[in-house]
Amino acid sequence: MVRKIALFNHKGGVSKTTTTFNLGWMLASKGKKVILVDTDPQCNLSGMVLGFSTKQELEKIYGESAKGKILNIKAGLAPAFESQPREIEAVNCVPIEGQDGLFLLPGHVGLAEYEVTLGLAQELSASIQTLKNLPGSISYLLDKTATKYSADYILIDMSPSLSSINQNLLMTSDFFILPTIPDFFQ
Ligand SMILES: Nc1ncnc2c1ncn2[C@@H]1O[C@H](COP(=O)(O)OP(=O)(O)OP(=O)(O)O)[C@@H](O)[C@H]1O
Ligand SMILES: [Mg+2]
Repeated sequence: MVRKIALFNHKGGVSKTTTTFNLGWMLASKGKKVILVDTDPQCNLSGMVLGFSTKQELEKIYGESAKGKILNIKAGLAPAFESQPREIEAVNCVPIEGQDGLFLLPGHVGLAEYEVTLGLAQELSASIQTLKNLPGSISYLLDKTATKYSADYILIDMSPSLSSINQNLLMTSDFFILPTIPDFFQ
């Protein structure tokens, strides 16, 4: 069964993304199957893996031809958040070059559009039927994707905030790691 580990700190720039990548790489080098999940709308992890300069790679995942395909986290969650009458399906992840067993579930700058809806759902889903499936949808998507890739670990790179998506990820993960850097405010 997959273990989901969230990397959280609402302070920015403390090495959440870097630790996600390096920890994932090390676990994969020890023979584990690992999916790195980019839930930060800044998409730094996706940028790090895909390369900011390879336009074709980005086009494949975010461009016109990617419409209707499940190639990033927002597309994966769309059935739940955009009231599309179809089941949530596993995301097609990107194998990370140079390390077998390591995959990226790409982020999306538009994931932030789901924040308000999820926040409402987390407060009101007990009383409003149509919001009931939303709080469990992220975890469901990650579990389905983990099953598709027989993943041992899911490492979740989070945005630096106390957003509703982050609240949800922390509640539904098995463990969390809190990277910290003591520094001065300048
Ligand atoms: N162990 C480390 N040693 C030296 N520099 C590091 C280390 N980890 C991260 N950095 C550097 O610190 C900066 C911030 O790292 P990173 O982007 O991983 O932080 P973050 O917590 O993900 O930031 P954000 O909150 O914006 O998502 C980067 O320039 C990165 O290269
Ligand atoms: Mg980051």
